[in-house]
Amino acid sequence: MFGNLRRRLAGTLPLDDRMEKGQVRNRHSRVCLLASLSAFFWFVLLYFHFVMLGGSSVVTQSNPATVNTESIKKIPRNPNPIHVSSHVASDSPKFDVSREKEISANGKSKDESLKIVKSSNVKHLPVNKKDRAHSQMAKYPFMRALRTRENKSDPCGGRYIYVYDLPPRFNENMLKECRSLSLWTNMCKYTTNAGLGPPLENAEGVFSNTGWYATNQFAVDVIFSNRMKQYECLTNDSSLAAAIFVPFYAGFDIARYLWGHNVSTRDASSLALVDWLMKRPEWGIMGGKDHFLVAGRITWDFRRLTDEEYDWGNKLLFLPAAKNMSMLVVESSPWNENDYGIPYPTYFHPAKDADVFIWQERMSKLDRKWLYCFAGAPRPDNPKSIRGQIIDQCKNSKVCKLLECDFGESKCHSPSSIMQMFQSSLFCLQPQGDSYTRRSAFDSMLAGCIPVFFHPGSAYTQYTWHLPRNYSLMR
Ligand SMILES: *[C@@H]1O[C@H](CO)[C@@H](O)[C@H](O)[C@H]1NC(C)=O
Ligand SMILES: *[C@@H]1O[C@H](CO)[C@@H](O)[C@H](O)[C@H]1NC(C)=O
Ligand SMILES: *[C@@H]1O[C@H](CO)[C@@H](O)[C@H](O)[C@H]1NC(C)=O
Ligand SMILES: *[C@@H]1O[C@H](CO)[C@@H](O)[C@H](O)[C@H]1NC(C)=O
Ligand SMILES: *[C@@H]1O[C@H](CO)[C@@H](O)[C@H](O)[C@H]1NC(C)=O
Repeated sequence: MFGNLRRRLAGTLPLDDRMEKGQVRNRHSRVCLLASLSAFFWFVLLYFHFVMLGGSSVVTQSNPATVNTESIKKIPRNPNPIHVSSHVASDSPKFDVSREKEISANGKSKDESLKIVKSSNVKHLPVNKKDRAHSQMAKYPFMRALRTRENKSDPCGGRYIYVYDLPPRFNENMLKECRSLSLWTNMCKYTTNAGLGPPLENAEGVFSNTGWYATNQFAVDVIFSNRMKQYECLTNDSSLAAAIFVPFYAGFDIARYLWGHNVSTRDASSLALVDWLMKRPEWGIMGGKDHFLVAGRITWDFRRLTDEEYDWGNKLLFLPAAKNMSMLVVESSPWNENDYGIPYPTYFHPAKDADVFIWQERMSKLDRKWLYCFAGAPRPDNPKSIRGQIIDQCKNSKVCKLLECDFGESKCHSPSSIMQMFQSSLFCLQPQGDSYTRRSAFDSMLAGCIPVFFHPGSAYTQYTWHLPRNYSLMR
């Protein structure tokens, strides 16, 4: 998967970019080797813990989708400072795609590495060694959780999740301070209804009468932790748990401080959280490898490379403890092992399966008068952005519909205008914005409009738990 991404990049980037990537790769190859050796051991452990436990059931929620309401002020960043006008409306959080160059292009995808470990370890381990490994394993504290899977009368065997009762400053208190969660958007409205936001009226008949909410694209922190409360296999006995959920609102936390706050303010909650976690008995069992957290922001908000004030975000995902945990984010990094991409939330939160089928039926019968459409703002300051081209070509085409998101409040921020356009179009163009991914991709899928991606990181290498890698091969 990742090999694919790299090949594509090499094929499409200018020569100097390619050379730069090549150098980075060489420099990192030894580190890579070491990393993969140590990773090997942990994959074996994780394999037993998660794969045999069927631990992928960790993420049982599916909240596709979101709202594009946040105007984002960009700040110039090293090593490629960019000068950006300060009021560009943006549909994705801030991230300079040029960061690609800063990060080593190494290794395999997470899924691929897991597969390799699985086959090499399981197939080639001689039988007597396997037995010995098995009896040694029995000593580990996590074996109790593993054995719940063998209990045929326990429908939750292997699926138990333990949720930490964190001090409220890590979650609930942030909701009380909802006005401070974003510089541009009053998030108070969006944290209601367990994070779904207020119900949307169906005045124009674009939605269904129920199940539609004004959901903010960054609300996953609170949506997920509330959904987790309804999970049927919660346990208060952490020794039975296949995974341990840390309900820290990491996305809300950093969103408050992304602009105009110093690095110590930005890092404070992350450091306090890690300090709290490492004192729990649950942490010692696997050094946090069975812990996961969920944040509705892009991984780059948590991956500050240096402690320089101009550098972006906090360093949560680079903390040693966080490297042991798994973080679910709306955009993950292809170069790191401790984060996983999950979809942005959409406006649709159906209460039952039947609501989904009715919706699908309706979308499949629509008359789509536009061949293609685009909703978004140009990126005039990014010479690599294809958005300006797309907007120009759309304007000149009789078969394209455009929703421009230039300044302030526009139709582009109205859920019904967006969904109406997507419902009348066959293809929905989803070029990168400030980062690889867009909530809009999920809105278009919901509307039955075929998303068109311009970068593998926008979907194919991103949402491997949720989307087929290649839909063309699925028939
Ligand atoms: C198996 O699961 C059932 C139902 O949860 C429980 O009552 C029983 O104690 C479990 N057995 C063992 C050996 O853990
Ligand atoms: C865990 O303990 C809390 C507080 O005692 C209780 O409210 C909750 O129902 C318990 N959960 C489970 C799954 O037993
Ligand atoms: C960072 O900002 C906080 C709050 O504004 C302030 O109290 C603190 O002294 C600052 N720290 C540094 C190192 O500048
Ligand atoms: C991460 O896991 C490794 C391997 O179990 C362990 O040695 C290390 O102490 C853990 N890190 C933290 C911060 O607990
Ligand atoms: C998907 O498969 C088709 C048919 O084999 C191929 O032409 C296309 O390039 C693939 N797309 C991606 C993104 O891998």
